[in-house]
Amino acid sequence: MTISGWALELARDDLTRTSLIDVDVPEPGEGEAVLRVDRVGLTANNVTYGVLGDAFRYWQFFPASDGFGRVPLWGFSEVVASTVPGVEIGQRLYGYLPMASHLVVQPVRVDERGFRDGSPHRADLPSPYNAYALTTGDTAYEPDREDLQILFRPLFFTSFMLADQLEDNDVYGARTVLLSSASSKTAYGSAFLLHGGATEVVGLTSASNLAFTESLGCYDRVLSYDDVETLPTDVPTAYLDLAGSTPLRRQLHTHLGDALVKDLVVGVTQQDTSPAGTLDGPRPAAFFAPDQMTKRTADWGRAELDERFGQAWQRFAPKVQQWVDVVVSQGPEALRDVWLEVLGGTSAPRTGHVLQL
Ligand SMILES: NC(=O)c1ccc[n+]([C@@H]2O[C@H](COP(=O)([O-])OP(=O)(O)OC[C@H]3O[C@@H](n4cnc5c(N)ncnc54)[C@H](OP(=O)(O)O)[C@@H]3O)[C@@H](O)[C@H]2O)c1
Repeated sequence: MTISGWALELARDDLTRTSLIDVDVPEPGEGEAVLRVDRVGLTANNVTYGVLGDAFRYWQFFPASDGFGRVPLWGFSEVVASTVPGVEIGQRLYGYLPMASHLVVQPVRVDERGFRDGSPHRADLPSPYNAYALTTGDTAYEPDREDLQILFRPLFFTSFMLADQLEDNDVYGARTVLLSSASSKTAYGSAFLLHGGATEVVGLTSASNLAFTESLGCYDRVLSYDDVETLPTDVPTAYLDLAGSTPLRRQLHTHLGDALVKDLVVGVTQQDTSPAGTLDGPRPAAFFAPDQMTKRTADWGRAELDERFGQAWQRFAPKVQQWVDVVVSQGPEALRDVWLEVLGGTSAPRTGHVLQL
C-alpha cells in the first residue's frame, strides 16, 4: 500500500475545525472498485450537508473518524482499481464524493450508464445520491461544460423539481413567489424557470448581493432583507426559503399574515437551525428534491423526466455561463481554504468554486 491518499475531515460540532489526514490508498476487495476523486465543486449546498449532517444523515455517506465527518461533494471521479466486471480502470463518472482522495464503492446494477454504490451503509439513504453516471453513457454530458455540470447539475435539478412542484400544485394559489437567498444558484435556477409565467417572481437577498441578483434578469423584483416590510400584504404569496433564517421567517409570517399561502423550506444558507416556534400562517414544510423526483418518475416515467430536465438544462446552461465565474483551485489544502471561505459566506455570488484534486 502507498500512503499517498488523504481525507479532509470536519468536526461535526464545529465545521470550522478541519483535520487533513493521510490515509492509505485503498485496494479493492471482492465486488469493489476504487474511485479517485478528481474534480469537484463547493457551494453553500455542501455547507448545508454539514449543518444538517446528523438530522438528514449526510454524514452517513462517507464514514470518518469519531466526532468528525467527510462532507459530500458533487463531481467527477476516475476508476483506478476494480474487481467488478464492467467497471473498468480509466472510466470517468459523475456522482457524490467525499472530501478525500479516494472512495471505495461496491458497484451494483452496472450497465452502460454507470452503476449504483451498493455499500450496506448507503443502502437506506436517498437513492439519487448513490448513482454514479459514466460520462460515456450520459447523453447530457458535454466535456467542455464539465465545470458547469460539477457546479449546477444537482442544484439545477433541485431548481427544476422545485419549480415543477409549484406548477404541479398551481403555485399553491399564490400570485407572487418569494425566494430568499435569491443570489444562490439553486434559487436563481428556480427563478429562471418560473420567470415569465403568470406568477410574479420576487427575490430577497443581502444588500451586498442586490445588484448581482438584479443583473440576472430572472426576478421581476429584488428586495434586500431590510425591505421585507414593503411587500404587499394583499397578494397571495408563496415563500421558498433558501436562507433558512428563523428571524426572517417570523418577520414574513407576521408581516404577510393571511397573504402567506405557502412556506417551503428549501435550504439553510444562513446555517440557522433554531426552531421557529409558533407562527402566524402556514406551517413551514420541507422541500426535498428527491421526493418530487419520485412523484414525477411515477407520473411521467424516468425517460420523460430526464427529457424534460435535459430541455430545461439546455435553456439554462448558455445563460448561467454568463452568471458564474468558475474559479479552479488545486489540491487538498485549497479544498480546506475554499471550504472555510464558503462556510464563512464570504464568496461573491458570481464565484463558482471548482477543486482539481
Ligand atoms: N432541499 C433540497 O433538496 C436542496 C437541494 C439543493 C440545494 N438546496 C439548498 O439551497 C441552498 C443554496 O445552495 P447553493 O449551493 O445554490 O448556494 P450558493 O450558490 O453557494 O449560495 C450563495 C448565497 O447563499 C447565501 N449565503 C451563503 N453563505 C452564507 C452564509 N455563511 N451566511 C449567510 N448567507 C450565506 C448568500 O445569498 P443571499 O445574500 O442572497 O442570502 C450567497 O450569495 C442551500 O442551503 C442548499 O442546501 C436544497
